Amino acid sequence: MSRLEELRRRHAAAEEGGGAERRERQHKEGKLSARERIELLLDEDSFEELDKLVTHRCRDFGMDEQVIPGDGFITGYGRIDGRLVYVFAQDFTVFGGSLSEANALKICKVMDLALKVGAPVIGLNDSGGARIQEGVLSLAGYADIFLRNTLASGVVPQISAIMGPCAGGAVYSPAITDFVFMVERSSYMFVTGPDVIKTVTHEDVSKERLGGSTTHNTISGVGHFMTADDAECLRMIRGLLSYLPQNNREDPPRRPCSDPIDRMDPSLDTLVPEESNQPYDIKDIITRVVDGGEFFEVHEHFAKNLVVGFARLDGRSVGVVANQPAHLAGCLDIDSSVKGARFVRFCDAFNIPIVTFEDVPGFLPGTGQEFGGIIRHGAKLLYAYAEATVPKITVITRKAYGGAYCVMGSKHIRTDVNFAYPSAEIAVMGAEGAVNIVYKRELQAAAAQEAVRAQKTAEFRERFANPFVAAERGYIDDVIEPRETRPRVIRALRMLENKVDTMPRKKHGNIPL
Ligand code: HXC
Repeated sequence: MSRLEELRRRHAAAEEGGGAERRERQHKEGKLSARERIELLLDEDSFEELDKLVTHRCRDFGMDEQVIPGDGFITGYGRIDGRLVYVFAQDFTVFGGSLSEANALKICKVMDLALKVGAPVIGLNDSGGARIQEGVLSLAGYADIFLRNTLASGVVPQISAIMGPCAGGAVYSPAITDFVFMVERSSYMFVTGPDVIKTVTHEDVSKERLGGSTTHNTISGVGHFMTADDAECLRMIRGLLSYLPQNNREDPPRRPCSDPIDRMDPSLDTLVPEESNQPYDIKDIITRVVDGGEFFEVHEHFAKNLVVGFARLDGRSVGVVANQPAHLAGCLDIDSSVKGARFVRFCDAFNIPIVTFEDVPGFLPGTGQEFGGIIRHGAKLLYAYAEATVPKITVITRKAYGGAYCVMGSKHIRTDVNFAYPSAEIAVMGAEGAVNIVYKRELQAAAAQEAVRAQKTAEFRERFANPFVAAERGYIDDVIEPRETRPRVIRALRMLENKVDTMPRKKHGNIPL
C-alpha cells in the first residue's frame, strides 16, 4: 500500500467511526452522528479537524484489537457566522464516546489553543463517561479537562451541549462551562445513576426524571436551554454566540440596527397596571424596548420569577435581568438569586452591559427559603451586581422594596444610570405592611380600626410609594415616561460606551457560595 493509500485508509477509518450499524442505532434514537452535528453547527466547509489520526494506547482487555483513528472524539476548529470557534464532539459509536487518555489530550489541545488565540469552545457531549478499560488514565484525562475549563472560565465563552449520556464525574466539565444546552428525550446528566441510587437510598427513579432535560431546566437549573432535537440545539448555539464576544478582551459584535433608536412606544405608558398587586408580563416590556423585539432568553424554564437573557440595543449586545411580576409576584428567592448572579457575572466577565428592569416586592418569605440559605444565596446576586464594572442601567417599573431595592442594580452598588417610571414605589416595604408595624399600637387602640388603617395606608402610600423621594436624593437619575424607555436607555448606553471602572487589587473575591 502506498503512503497515500495508507493515509486515505486511516482517514476513512476515522470517518467511519464505530460503523454503519452503530450509526444507524444513533439515528434510530433520534440522535445525529458526531460528524453530522459538527457539520450543522459550523459554517459550511469551515471545519478543520485536528488529531484525526490519534489512537488510544490501551493494550488491556483486547483493546489492542480495537483501534479506531480519532479514538471516538472529533476535535478541531471552524467558523460560526465567519467567527472562529473551537469544537469537540464525542462520537457515541466508538466505545460509547468514552473518555480515554488519548482523546482527553485532544480536548486539552483545542482548549489550550482557544485560550491562546481567544475564541469560544463548544463541546458536544454524548458519552458513557470514563473509558472503563483505561482506569485512572481516563480519570486523569477528566481532571486535565476540568483544570482547563476553570482556567478558561471568564477568558473565552464555553458552551456545552448534552446530546446523549453525561454521567458520573463527567458532568463537572459542562457544569463549569458558561451555558449548558440539553436535547429533550436523548440527553441526561447525573452524578450517580438510578441503579446506584436504588442500592444506596432504595429510591426508584427513571433516568429521565433523575437527569433529563426537563429536570435540569426546571428543577436543578443545571441546564440553561432545552431543545426539541439536535438540529435545534446546534442552531441555538449559533444564535447564542451572535451575542457574545470572542474573549474577555473584546467587545461583543455590533450588528447594524434597523430599529430606530429614538422609537417611542406609547403602549408602554399603560402596560404596568395601576393596581400594584396586579401581575403583568415583564417580557412585554423587554420586547417593546430592545432592537426588533428579539430577546434570547437564558434559563427560560428555571426560577421564572427572574427573567434573564440577551438582546441588542442600538445593535449592541446587552444582558437583560428583570423581575417577573407574573410569577411569584416577582419575589427574589434562592433559585432566582443564583440564576441572576451567574448571569450578571457572565455579562461582566465578557464586557456585556447589564440592563435591569425592576419590579420586586422583596425576598420570598418562609422557612423553606430561610433554611435553604436565602441569606447566603441572595448575597450572591448582591455581590455579583456590586462587583460588576460593565455599564449598568436600571429601570424601576413598579415596586422596589426593601433589600431587593438595594440588590437589583441600585445606584448604591455602582449602577451608572437609574431610571424609574412614575408608577415606581421605592420603599422599605408595601404600604399595608408598613402601617401594620409603624401604627401597631394606634391600630390596636382605635375603635374604628379599619378606617384608621385605610387612612394611614393612604397617607403612607402618598408619602413613600412613589419614585420622587429617591429622585430628590439623586438615587434615581430621572423619572421617565414609559414610552421613552428605549431612547433613554440607548442614550445612556452610548454615554457609557467608554466606561472604565475597577476593583481593588486582590487575588479574587470571596463570593458567598
Ligand atoms: C468503555 C463503554 C463505556 C465506557 C459504554 N461503552 N460506556 N466503553 N467505557 N465507560 C461502550 C459499550 O461497551 C458499548 O460497546 C457501547 O459503548 C454502547 O454502550 P451500550 O451500553 O450498548 O449503550 P446504551 O445501552 O445506550 O447505554 C449507554 C450507557 C451505558 C448508559 C452510557 O453504556 C453505561 O452505563 N455505560 C457505563 C457508564 C459508566 O459507568 N461510566 C463510568 C462513569 S464514572 P459496543 O462495542 O457494544 O458498541 C465516570 C467517572 C468520570 O465517568 C470521573 C471524572 C472525575
